[in-house]
Amino acid sequence: MNETHFLNRRSKLLDMMEEGLAIITSAPPQTRSNDTEYPYRQNSDFYYLCGFNEDNSVLVLIKTPNSSKTILFVEAHNAEHALWNGARMGIDGAREKFSVDEVHDIAQFGGMIKELLHEHINLYIDLYSDSSRLSEAKTAAQSLHSTRGVKRHIRSIRDVTYLIRTLRLIKSSEEIESIKKAIAITAEAHHSAMEKCRAGMREYQLQAEMNYIFLNNGASSEAYGAIVAGGNNANTLHYVDNRDELRDGDLVLIDAACEWELYASDITRTFPINGKFSDAQREVYNAVLDVQLRVIEAIRVGVKRDWLQNYSEELLCDALIELGILSGERKTLMEAKEHKKYAPHGIGHWMGLDVHDPCPYVDEEGESLAFMAGMVMTIEPGLYFRVDDESVPERYRGIGIRIEDNILVTEEGYENLSVMIAKSVEEIEGMCRR
Ligand code: GLY
Ligand code: MN
Ligand code: MN
Repeated sequence: MNETHFLNRRSKLLDMMEEGLAIITSAPPQTRSNDTEYPYRQNSDFYYLCGFNEDNSVLVLIKTPNSSKTILFVEAHNAEHALWNGARMGIDGAREKFSVDEVHDIAQFGGMIKELLHEHINLYIDLYSDSSRLSEAKTAAQSLHSTRGVKRHIRSIRDVTYLIRTLRLIKSSEEIESIKKAIAITAEAHHSAMEKCRAGMREYQLQAEMNYIFLNNGASSEAYGAIVAGGNNANTLHYVDNRDELRDGDLVLIDAACEWELYASDITRTFPINGKFSDAQREVYNAVLDVQLRVIEAIRVGVKRDWLQNYSEELLCDALIELGILSGERKTLMEAKEHKKYAPHGIGHWMGLDVHDPCPYVDEEGESLAFMAGMVMTIEPGLYFRVDDESVPERYRGIGIRIEDNILVTEEGYENLSVMIAKSVEEIEGMCRR
């Protein structure tokens, strides 16, 4: 992403704001245990607006009736930090690299924000963040409020994330390129897992194989904690232990993907550990695949997300009737939410800088959003039959299947960005060479 992109995004945000001040803070480092930390991951909203990847930094956007200004506060170069953690970009470095109007030392944030605040009445922040820099700003706003003689003080505090995330809904071609790059690496990892999987291996060995491919190809990280779930473990939706043995005759569900320059991919494939689907496994697999293909086929500009969700539930309910797991009228079954027992999660979610991109799903009136070109969402139907569920025919018990792809809405309809990853029974069995 070059500087023009960040400038454009900030300019769009300024257009959406009324006169006032927006403060967006970087993510804090996260402790893993005692004094060790997780690898640093920037706040996606902050990154979206300026591309700066260090902690302890703050972006301030100022809008007046006839001008606007952007200020970036960063941590100054510090020899101690450079020795232990590496050099910071520093104030001069940030001035050189970033197209913001001003760069200042973060140590000046408290004093400067007080000055800025008393010229404005609207403050835009992340209302739900517990950032200490935001607390500093709110404390400064409070003290101005109770100071005699101050001309202006903050009268409304608004959620800036709603505005930023509305912008994040529509991906630019450069963002799509980053997502495609993440998917290309993820595709290689899924194919390698299919090739290398053998009965007797442990789930974490497939995870290790995939992580090797992510890192070896320069991915910035996994996009989320991988799920490698053999057999009945697939029926635990957020199974992340990944320590069990992979058994002959079982399926393995892998929901794993990487991030490229902070852009996510999110892919699930389910395949037979010994390389061949049993009849029962193939029946359920093809039922889920058919739902997935039909839902993807329905995606086009103007279709509402709620409609797509309901359509996917109808198809899943029909599949459950077809498999002999539910019986009766689809309408009655759906009213009683009978299908939810076996298909409990939604059909998909927005994807971008976050794997679950927190962009709005409804408009200002609370109406489901209609698809627009440039939106990216996952389509991930699943059917889950627990091994101890006696409401399910015995031959299907212990089978859990999800198939997940990443779909770009286009002017013409859609593009399946992960179409290259083996998915039909034939493609998967071909990839699972034994
Ligand atoms: N990998 C998380 C999800 O599919 O939503
Ligand atoms: Mn997903
Ligand atoms: Mn997933």
